[in-house]
Amino acid sequence: MPDRSLMLLLFASGNYDENEFACPYTFDMNRGNLGKQVAFGAGPHRCIGLTLARMEIKVAARELIKRLDNIKLEIAIEDIEFVPTVATRSMASLPVSFTRRQ
Ligand code: HEM
Repeated sequence: MPDRSLMLLLFASGNYDENEFACPYTFDMNRGNLGKQVAFGAGPHRCIGLTLARMEIKVAARELIKRLDNIKLEIAIEDIEFVPTVATRSMASLPVSFTRRQ
């Protein structure tokens, strides 16, 4: 790479690196190397808000599970569309159905 080149880090693709993660597209919460994911970046500029973000996700998930039942993806997983950006891997939409938990 030439001297003083600008680099664009694709954090979004880092978590799909098959050299690091076996079957990267498989949702596996028991991966031995989960801690190697780079969703929050890495090194000195690692996300400063990651603890808050994780807490928000935990609270949101807990509240959703408390209120909703039979949560089901309404389209084939391959048909999920992503926002065309290099910065993050964000779904354009996530059509799901659910019932209210009694
Ligand atoms: C799911 C939620 C979040 C994700 C995926 C995320 C992701 C990231 C990533 C990948 C970086 C590194 C960027 C780089 O190296 O150039 C970063 C940095 C940063 N994030 Fe987050 N973030 C999240 C939530 C938050 C929240 C809630 C806050 C603040 C309340 C926050 C504040 C920051 C700041 C200030 C930096 C810059 C740190 C630095 O440059 O030293 N983030 N974030």
